Amino acid sequence: MNRDVIIACDFKNKADTIAFLDKFQEEKPFVKIGMELFYGEGPDIVRAIKDRGHKIFLDLKLHDIPTTVRKAMMNLARLGVDMTNVHAAGTIDMMRAAKEGLVEGASGDPAILIAVTQLTSTNLERMQKELLINATMEETVAHYARNTKEAGLNGVVCSPLEAAIVKNACGKDFITVTPGIRYPDGNMGDQSRVMTPAKARETGTEFIVVGRPITQAEDVVAAYRRVCKDFIG
Ligand code: C5P
Repeated sequence: MNRDVIIACDFKNKADTIAFLDKFQEEKPFVKIGMELFYGEGPDIVRAIKDRGHKIFLDLKLHDIPTTVRKAMMNLARLGVDMTNVHAAGTIDMMRAAKEGLVEGASGDPAILIAVTQLTSTNLERMQKELLINATMEETVAHYARNTKEAGLNGVVCSPLEAAIVKNACGKDFITVTPGIRYPDGNMGDQSRVMTPAKARETGTEFIVVGRPITQAEDVVAAYRRVCKDFIG
């Protein structure tokens, strides 16, 4: 799997998103669309960005009973997304159903399907006290990643600091998609456990998800090129 940079397009509406993408004349970056934009604009936002030639990671983190997830995934596959995701907490059966739906709905190769292990917003204390998961964060991430592999998915979303744990548990071909990317000279925003693009590359991660370091830059195209150069080479 080739390395790639995915831009997190966390804009409030379609107009702002298209205005941002209009700045790219030569490149067609891989873009991530999340819940805010998808629920605000509907599936047309995916079609509009696909029509402009971008690959799309639709980050909706599905988590429901297997039948519902399978049918929802069929619809997402019909939109032609290139990557999408579910929560590993939905169980192996749910993840298998998600994969089936994605394959059934796809007209060509199915999208890359990845799972969320533990959200980075869930800390150890909350995981143990509220979710009653009596294990360390590392054990939980590795265990959920193994479940994801057993269900036949392609990989997981994780912090770049966890990529090595996941690769150790599931093998180097199991894909990791890693947000939390920052330069030392950049604004951290609300991210705390971060890594530079060059360091992320050393972990073996295939995809980095970069939002504000690109979207809030003065020259967004130059910022994107800097990240690509450091991560892809
Ligand atoms: O702007 P920034 O580079 O922090 O954006 C990172 C993107 O990755 C955001 O869309 C955020 O929601 C997402 N993300 C994350 N941490 C996770 C999962 C997703 O930052 N664990």
